[in-house]
Amino acid sequence: MTPLAPSGDETPGVKGPIVTLDGPAGSGKSTTAREVARRLGFRHLDSGALYRALTLALLESDVPAGEWADLDEQAMRALDVTVTAKGTELEVGVGGRVVNSELRSKEVTAQVAYLASLPVARACLLNLQRAAGAQGRLVADGRDMGTVVFPHADVKIYLVAELGERARRRLREGGMEEPSEEEVVTHSGVIAERDRHDSEREHSPLRKPEEAELIDTTRLSFDEQVEAIIRLVQEAEQRE
Ligand code: C5P
Repeated sequence: MTPLAPSGDETPGVKGPIVTLDGPAGSGKSTTAREVARRLGFRHLDSGALYRALTLALLESDVPAGEWADLDEQAMRALDVTVTAKGTELEVGVGGRVVNSELRSKEVTAQVAYLASLPVARACLLNLQRAAGAQGRLVADGRDMGTVVFPHADVKIYLVAELGERARRRLREGGMEEPSEEEVVTHSGVIAERDRHDSEREHSPLRKPEEAELIDTTRLSFDEQVEAIIRLVQEAEQRE
């Protein structure tokens, strides 16, 4: 993997806030974090995309899933997952190509929680994530942003939403305009299983950072949740 490429818009040595958003699948972390970052002019790090990129790289390699746990950090690094700063955008790459929609494929989604439970995969992605925050002015979303990757973040948020609502949102993201109750119940089971996997794993399990602000988005509009977070960032900036 190559280190984060510097963008042309940074003033070296000038640091700004780091904002973390953690929470379970479908709580709206990534879309919210992206919009918060856009409005503040910060960068957005979607750490789930890095775990997905590493999963994609392994699926495209000739290593069967049953042998992923035997790989060492060097072998994982050789898969060449990168994060590159382009202005305020952070592009995720695999083997030199920018990856995007393929990160959300069924195959990647089915394997990513397993890959993310391997300590070697987490170690391999840790420095890439920290490099993205080296200049501050970052909104990072994932499962362990506030607990492990950026424990000294200036603002920590923990986003939750009721399971059925999270399933409905994921189905809508996947192109279903009005999912039936049956589809919502089935997909709730899939999400609950991923949450269980993420919360019960030994390394960097999903949990609310003690000092994080809890925001339940079940009955909030997208704008309301974005504005609530921006208010917290502005309050933190005023305290500085
Ligand atoms: O957020 P997203 O659904 O894209 O994340 C995919 C998976 O990557 C999660 O279910 C989790 O297993 C893993 N992940 C993680 N730590 C993070 C971000 C994602 O373990 N910080």
